[in-house]
Amino acid sequence: MSGHDTPIPMTARNSGPLSGTAQIPGDKSISHRSLILGAMAVGETRVTGLLEGQDVLDTAKAMRAFGAEVTRHAPGEWSVHGVGVGGFGEPADVIDCGNSGTGVRLIMGAMATTAMTATFTGDASLRKRPMGRVTDPLSLFGTQAYGRAGGRLPMTVIGAADPVPVRYTVPVPSAQVKSAVLLAGLNAPGETVVIEKEPTRDHSERMLRGFGAELSVEKTAEGHVITLVGRPELRPQTVAVPRDPSSAAFPVCAALLVEGSDILVPGVSQNPTRNGLYTTLVEMGADIAFDNPREEGGEPVADLRVRFTGTLKGIEVPPARAASMIDEYPILSVVAANATGTTVMRGVKELRVKESDRIDAMARGLEACGVRVEEDEDTLIVHGMGPGGVPGGATCATHIDHRIAMSFMVLGLAAQQPVSIDDGSPIATSFPAFEGLMQALGAEMERQAV
Ligand code: S3P
Repeated sequence: MSGHDTPIPMTARNSGPLSGTAQIPGDKSISHRSLILGAMAVGETRVTGLLEGQDVLDTAKAMRAFGAEVTRHAPGEWSVHGVGVGGFGEPADVIDCGNSGTGVRLIMGAMATTAMTATFTGDASLRKRPMGRVTDPLSLFGTQAYGRAGGRLPMTVIGAADPVPVRYTVPVPSAQVKSAVLLAGLNAPGETVVIEKEPTRDHSERMLRGFGAELSVEKTAEGHVITLVGRPELRPQTVAVPRDPSSAAFPVCAALLVEGSDILVPGVSQNPTRNGLYTTLVEMGADIAFDNPREEGGEPVADLRVRFTGTLKGIEVPPARAASMIDEYPILSVVAANATGTTVMRGVKELRVKESDRIDAMARGLEACGVRVEEDEDTLIVHGMGPGGVPGGATCATHIDHRIAMSFMVLGLAAQQPVSIDDGSPIATSFPAFEGLMQALGAEMERQAV
């Protein structure tokens, strides 16, 4: 469910110490990519630890619509019989990517250089989000796209029958745009070059190499120059999806805010393009041990032990770190509200075009809970009230946004009065087990009777 069905109002209340082990589900970004690249390889790709959130299930359905055979064997264990680069068949119906910007943008890239037409749509949140950032560079391959005003879904994409390779500098820090261009470049002849001024998550690059594509990354004065040689034969892989650091952020931050907490969060990806939140928390004074560092599924991972200390301080988050923690600003603003002093988050305007306008959603909800915030187009500033200092006692709007919903649930665990959300159903897009996992740690949260 992704917010377009029955709303699920929920409440979280001040809780005793959290303890135990939190088994975090698979990484959402890597799960999407394993299905899409599996569909573009020839033969059977095996995936373990796949996130079975609605976003990824929608991508699985889309890959079937383009002709791949996608099978679930057991929880998290999937196989994809791919059709090869350029082998997609035209889907018989509209592709509904639900709530997922990653799903729709990467799939548009993957089909953009094959002679076929596909129409994409999504839920009310996704239909508000800009697609021009992807269709603009895809047009350089010869792809055409016709959507609603402002480049919004529903949108019909006509793949280039005779694609040319592309050299493109990504104007906004976006792994989705970078990945869409690289996936389109797979079926273009010659070299496709993507340049990003600031590095964003590099799962596509790692996985493209893993599937046998020739891809190089060079750091130059222009930024990261990524060169992909087109028309490779992708070889099917066995993909072990590591646990998602963006989902782990919720129990980790809850343990930092609830007095007396001490939890373990094993096997969480610490990919440097994803771990900005953890660096920030440590700078704020958090007690987090990163034990047993190792590699799993081609990604660096560690076992986290997180303990409450009640001594978190507000900081200025370096804007250069934004891309490595872009999905974590909502939960960081909850931590900031419980810290001593002010936390300044600049260079974050990308938050305005996520599943919701996350600056606005967090600012309004925190204010309703008695926290003083300031914002401008590119900035969020939270004035901390110290441990246990947030009054709470409000219902916050989640705007069909899973991370806003989970952030306010965590706020409620340490606030003086309960915090409610109008709709927890979007949580199922990325972290269906959230409620049960948090309850098992000792968090007091429940669905309201409707
Ligand atoms: C993602 C990239 C980021 C992130 C999203 C997942 C990805 O989006 O916010 O949750 O898997 O590539 P942008 O590319 O818009 O920054």
